[in-house]
Amino acid sequence: MTVNTQVFDHWIRHDFVEINTYLEKLYWQQEDKANVVNVADTQKQQLLIEGKALIQALLVEGNTDEGFDSAFDLLGNVGLYMAACRRHELTEPTREIVSPLKEASALAMHIGASIGVTPRFATAHLTTHNKAVDGSYKRFTSLADEKWFLDYNTKGILAYQRAADALLKIQSLGISHPITADLLLLAKNGLQDVIDSNKGLFNRLDTDRFFYCVRPYYKPYRVGEHVYRGANAGDFAGINVIDLQLGLCAANDPAYSQLLVDKFLYMMPEDQQTLRDCMRRTSIMDDFLNAISPNEDWYQTNLPLFLDVCRHHGNTAIQHHNQLITKYISQPSRNMKQSHLDKVTASGPPLHILIDSLDKLKDKRAAVNRSDIDTRYHDIEILKASLTTISESQGEEIDEYN
Ligand code: HEM
Repeated sequence: MTVNTQVFDHWIRHDFVEINTYLEKLYWQQEDKANVVNVADTQKQQLLIEGKALIQALLVEGNTDEGFDSAFDLLGNVGLYMAACRRHELTEPTREIVSPLKEASALAMHIGASIGVTPRFATAHLTTHNKAVDGSYKRFTSLADEKWFLDYNTKGILAYQRAADALLKIQSLGISHPITADLLLLAKNGLQDVIDSNKGLFNRLDTDRFFYCVRPYYKPYRVGEHVYRGANAGDFAGINVIDLQLGLCAANDPAYSQLLVDKFLYMMPEDQQTLRDCMRRTSIMDDFLNAISPNEDWYQTNLPLFLDVCRHHGNTAIQHHNQLITKYISQPSRNMKQSHLDKVTASGPPLHILIDSLDKLKDKRAAVNRSDIDTRYHDIEILKASLTTISESQGEEIDEYN
């Protein structure tokens, strides 16, 4: 790390957090909590100017080739600064055709293009690749709810990744291998950990605090000429590896491949590679459908475990949709003034369109019987019918999160 990088990192971890937290306290006291206009303009200018001076020094320093980790980390710091400027409406993508943060944009584009990621802060910067110093990792504010949100996002992502890693290992063993049973159990446990972690977040995170003081830092912002959508906890390969390996979603389904194309650069380069490999492979579900053999012991052992993993994956999607999205986005949006409503989602599209596409994704993951979109409902029924005994869990309705 160069001295300039260290100084900037120190500023991001201290003064930056203090200014954001101070501003959040003032916004929060207003009757219209979503308003940021004409509030503490001096502090907003302080944030803008201090950040700009530190970034200017880094831009002059140029590419010091300190390696991927250091470049990615610096991109994150520039991104946090740009996202905070957007949150406090020092920049506003619909108001401008090019970002007024010229130095920050130049540095972000330089780094993003050179390491193969989007030139903005991504989820990994705040979760899986967020180094703690003396027990404290990078955040926008010192508000407890932001910490809960990030703690549980990190836990959820790591648990999804454990499930994805186990499923990937099945590729080289095959569905009839005795140790495939162990891997399916590992995948199921990873998904159960996602469910438990999301439950913890649901019980702990305050709706208004999240909606008014945390989520606004995840809005789209402009880097140079282009607007980049906000980060979300789904920007890692594991979730899609699970979709594709289980066969619940398909890479040649246009709605689904659109989602993959749009998120590639928001993921770490190694995640991009894993996902690309996965898109070229057959799914475990297709392998079972091509090998229906009810009289084989391996089949009667491994298939129920596979179906259980599918059920757990569906449950994580139902829980995310019916609990997290409903409680923290859909419901509070109903109470919001129309003037603020356009800017609620991290990805940009109007809320009802975003919710509709997430609903379809949820139903693919849960293999729901729908006539308007392709799901694996019928294939799962075929597989269930080939079992000699139906385990209790296979017959269980998914209604806990409804
Ligand atoms: C307050 C909590 C949360 C809320 C309100 C929330 C909301 C959302 C929303 C609205 C999206 C759509 C993207 C967008 O905004 O443009 C999304 C995507 C996603 N979220 Fe969450 N989320 C929360 C927490 C989590 C957690 C803890 C996880 C666990 C890892 C998670 C996993 C995902 C995934 C995987 C996607 C992407 C869907 C996909 O592309 O497959 N979310 N979330």
